[in-house]
Amino acid sequence: MNRILAIGGTGTVGRQVVSQLVELGAPVRVLARNPKSVSFPAEVELVPGDLTLPESLDAGLRNIDAVFLVWVAPPSAVIPALERIKQKARRIVFLSAPLKTPHPLFQQPNLARNLGLQIEALIESSGVPYTFLRPGMFAPNSKLWWGKQIREGNLVRWPYLSVPTAPIDERDIAAVAVRALTENGHDRAEYVLTGPQSLTHFEQISTIGAAIGHSLQIEELSPEEARRELLPAFPRPVVNMLVDAWAAASGQPAFISSTFQQLTGRSPYTFLEWATANAQAFRA
Ligand SMILES: NC(=O)c1ccc[n+]([C@@H]2O[C@H](COP(=O)([O-])OP(=O)(O)OC[C@H]3O[C@@H](n4cnc5c(N)ncnc54)[C@H](OP(=O)(O)O)[C@@H]3O)[C@@H](O)[C@H]2O)c1
Repeated sequence: MNRILAIGGTGTVGRQVVSQLVELGAPVRVLARNPKSVSFPAEVELVPGDLTLPESLDAGLRNIDAVFLVWVAPPSAVIPALERIKQKARRIVFLSAPLKTPHPLFQQPNLARNLGLQIEALIESSGVPYTFLRPGMFAPNSKLWWGKQIREGNLVRWPYLSVPTAPIDERDIAAVAVRALTENGHDRAEYVLTGPQSLTHFEQISTIGAAIGHSLQIEELSPEEARRELLPAFPRPVVNMLVDAWAAASGQPAFISSTFQQLTGRSPYTFLEWATANAQAFRA
């Protein structure tokens, strides 16, 4: 069985990847900046490391076959870290985004997109076998976007209520990552992954209400109000990225991919199933 290093294994998708690898009995090591502040089952080896300190990656990369890579570190750290990773990894599974999918939601220029393209180009030219995971909107974004408003009251104020996306459950992204990390046949694959349904923001918020048994009041914010009100909670580039993407996707159905079903033989979780599994995050 491949020995796997999860970089980003303490994050939203990475935790699911690690948990599913443990269920499979695969040897897994997690790189963490602060290993003492995280807890994993005893089978998981935790090693300290930081993508911005390339020499700190060596211990985690020792005797590793495959690397699961999530990148949220600064762009300046990309080249030295990838240099280190490509010397040791025999396979890289990179959590990217639908950068090549011709849907306006995914095609707006922004810094995260440029960074993703840069990392992909470095991996492609490294000669190391790779798989790119290209999930669309994560269902767990809802916790960040609406969690506080729903926990604190019944009113959710949000822009672009009629814009649909196809939110994907982190467990499903992880299920594909685990296949790419542990099975053969995924070299150079680029898997565009979405949830099964096109749901407007209004429908997504209502679905969370149904999952927690609350009827929520939903009020539309103008794009200008949204930029103003979201800024304290989210960094400016993130707010700009989201508002630009939603504006561009207005009036278009969400892009839905069948790749998950083809790879796993089952349907991805619905948003209601995600919201039900995560109901606690929305309860006061
Ligand atoms: N949200 C979406 O809708 C969406 C859609 C498509 C693609 N994506 C992509 O998904 C990725 C985010 O995935 P996620 O939500 O699972 O991430 P996340 O929950 O934000 O977790 C980030 C992970 O990166 C680790 N990390 C941060 N800085 C690090 C550093 N300097 N060195 C080593 N590790 C570091 C964190 O570890 P510690 O803090 O524990 O060290 C954590 O495990 C991004 O690249 C994003 O572009 C997101």
